[in-house]
Amino acid sequence: MIKVGVIGVGTVGASVIKILHDNAEMISARAGTQIRVTRGVVRDLGKKRDFDIPLSDNPMDVINDPDIDIVVELMGGIEEPFKIVKAALVQGKAVVTANKAMLAYHRYELQELAGNIAFEYEASVAGGIPIINALRDGLSANHIESIKGIMNGTCNYILTKMMDEGADFEPTLKEAQELGYAEADPAFDIGGFDAAHKLLILASIAYDIDAKPEDILIEGIEHVTQDDISFAKEFGYVIKLLTIAKKTGDEVELRVHAALVKKTEMIAKIDGVMNGVSVIGDMVGETLYYGPGAGGDATASAVVANIIDIARSGKRSPMLGFQTSLEKDLKLKSKDEIISKYYLRMGVEDKPGVLSAVTKMFADHNISIETMLQRPCANGNANLLFSTHEAVEKNIQGIIKELSAASYTKSTPTMIRIEA
Ligand code: NAP
Ligand code: HSE
Repeated sequence: MIKVGVIGVGTVGASVIKILHDNAEMISARAGTQIRVTRGVVRDLGKKRDFDIPLSDNPMDVINDPDIDIVVELMGGIEEPFKIVKAALVQGKAVVTANKAMLAYHRYELQELAGNIAFEYEASVAGGIPIINALRDGLSANHIESIKGIMNGTCNYILTKMMDEGADFEPTLKEAQELGYAEADPAFDIGGFDAAHKLLILASIAYDIDAKPEDILIEGIEHVTQDDISFAKEFGYVIKLLTIAKKTGDEVELRVHAALVKKTEMIAKIDGVMNGVSVIGDMVGETLYYGPGAGGDATASAVVANIIDIARSGKRSPMLGFQTSLEKDLKLKSKDEIISKYYLRMGVEDKPGVLSAVTKMFADHNISIETMLQRPCANGNANLLFSTHEAVEKNIQGIIKELSAASYTKSTPTMIRIEA
């Protein structure tokens, strides 16, 4: 029998216990042994729970229990779980985690520490979709050309409801929290950081890029308004939070941001809490993965799969899928040099000369306008909405700075990238 200790028995942890109980017979058949959760750790021992396992509020009770084979970390956070997981590895215990924030900062140290000890983290990216398995194992014969997708269920849920139902941001975020999709601090979701954590994990497996969140372009969806949505609809787009890794020559760009996506694209049809990831390998071509990206049962499905795998095979290494440096000459592309098409919205005074001053500024920054809309609004002002041909990020940032300072500008310009 394999004994499991679960540190953090909240949304995902409780589902792990439920799945191991409800599907016990089938899981034993697959694992070749029984799997039992013998201890759980929570913060608040006074809270009413729907499961019946011995609970403590001290993670070391699991780490120091000599009978426990696998430590499952589902408490969230960065430094505290890192200490706990390190202690588990030092004791020689296998580890399963869904904690992408911890991995975004500490995955290389953990790979080093884990050595031959099993360390699995399938649920950390795209919830129930087995994308780690696909990228690390199924596609290991390929140079990875790009990874592009929707990897945050909370943002996709909010954006879908804003697009389809005209819903407001705040109550829709609250719904996502009630459904168990959001992080303990939902700023990680809506600010794009959670998706960035996932991107960094995938970028390590695909390219061995040891970057931190601070090194890459991360923007969220907080600034998306119904004005942007109506522009998107008018021009045949939807708005999605995209997560992108793209290799060009010896550079890899990594970015997370809201994007206008043509509604005929496959990715545009991924709605609600669903996630979708496209991975292009040099030999296989494009492969696509789709499924629920958040929620207790969907995420726990991936956690339990890792537990079964460890029970079957004992160990599996290396954690990130490479033994020696993968692609030695690859480096991270500077955020300033990223090339995209852009959409810009700004409020300006509605008076002679303003439009020509704005369009001149585009020309001065070497940005070519593709479409333009002017909408009158209250107080003698107008909303200007532009889409551009491909432009360099630093030029767009330059024009946003200059437009923000212009005397005729009445609301700070908002920018959304356009991804075909
Ligand atoms: P959650 O519902 O907030 O559960 C966290 C659990 O950890 C709770 O049981 C909490 O105790 C316990 N805990 C927190 N801090 C603790 C501490 N210092 N000592 C002891 N126990 C502590 O979170 P969740 O949604 O299950 O997420 C857990 C992890 O999975 C996170 O890393 C998250 O990013 C990741 N994840 C979540 C999802 C999802 O859809 N929810 C999907 C993929 C990955 P109490 O119950 O007493 O509060
Ligand atoms: N908060 C995350 C999301 C959970 O909404 O995608 C899944 O990683």
